[in-house]
Amino acid sequence: MKIAVLPGDGIGTEIVAEAVKVLNVLDLPFEMETALVGGAAYEAHGHPLPDSTLKLAKQADAVLFGAVGDWKYDTLDRPLRPEQAVLGLRKNLGLFANFRPAICYDELVSASSLKPELVSGLDILIIRELTGDIYFGQPRGRRVSPDGHFPGAEEAFDTMRYSRPEIERIARVAFEAARKRSKRVTSVDKANVLETFQLWKDVVTEIGKDYPDVALDHMYVDNAAMQLVKAPKKFDVVVTGNMFGDILSDEAAMLTGSIGMLPSASLNSSSQGLYEPSHGSAPDIAGKGIANPLATILSAAMMLRYSLNQPQAADRIESAVKDVLASGLRTADIYSEGKTRVGTREMGDAVVASITKKTTKG
Ligand code: IPM
Ligand code: MN
Repeated sequence: MKIAVLPGDGIGTEIVAEAVKVLNVLDLPFEMETALVGGAAYEAHGHPLPDSTLKLAKQADAVLFGAVGDWKYDTLDRPLRPEQAVLGLRKNLGLFANFRPAICYDELVSASSLKPELVSGLDILIIRELTGDIYFGQPRGRRVSPDGHFPGAEEAFDTMRYSRPEIERIARVAFEAARKRSKRVTSVDKANVLETFQLWKDVVTEIGKDYPDVALDHMYVDNAAMQLVKAPKKFDVVVTGNMFGDILSDEAAMLTGSIGMLPSASLNSSSQGLYEPSHGSAPDIAGKGIANPLATILSAAMMLRYSLNQPQAADRIESAVKDVLASGLRTADIYSEGKTRVGTREMGDAVVASITKKTTKG
């Protein structure tokens, strides 16, 4: 089991170190190799995704990724910015299916900004298409406007586009995932305005006919954003395009109390995957040892389940995380009165201790 470890920038290095620690106590034959990515790689090699890093990622069964980005790189040419590393990995590895579960742990109900009754027991799976849409559509650029409201003015443009096969494959991923859950899929689009999302809706509907056991409904993205804060438990599997999925997954993550808890998996058609927390590099708290490592630790659990075929090891990590939360340990982002505030490392140590204890017991 080859794992490429790409910690990246900001809190990335701190949280990935904890996930690696957790993987190491499982006593499984991992081959882990670490490489630079993002701003860190730009500093060292002049590029956010050096060839050597991309090669390592391609040869691995899975990539454990931290986070990339820092405001200080905002003025670089776009191809050199840290974000291009993660976009490049997604594109080059064909990681089209992004799973972002939003689960509200009982212990953290009070950390949510919504009323407890709205979020307790919440368990949504957002499936975001990750290699198409306006993120990658060509053409894009800047130019002098040839027409429009202000001909001759400077303008910028991006292209939103999806092909039928791209929609078909992500729809199948969503229906298959729903079969393992409560057999409901909500497809989120903007078919009332956008041609791209009329095709999306048509294709998802067609594919849905192959899954008569799964209930499909469609929702416009603006309504979905509203329903997520009004009645989030009405959702189960949500499937949507790259940009809507980017936005809705942050919204859903926050319902659970903290984005610091949310893992993610990005898979290609051969189950090779990239695993990363749903949050970013948080440069404002980097180096302080206070970041929550649980999203990354839970991403490592997803990696064991989806790419490395080690579901029992994944269960061990997830149950250790629940134990640690039950014991009252909290990083700053999920802290509430009466709980024990801990740092990044102590949180990782506690997960390790819980796994080790259970191993010795039985
Ligand atoms: C995410 C991030 C990325 C995205 C950025 C860093 C390119 O926000 O993974 O959600 O927009 O996809
Ligand atoms: Mn995002």
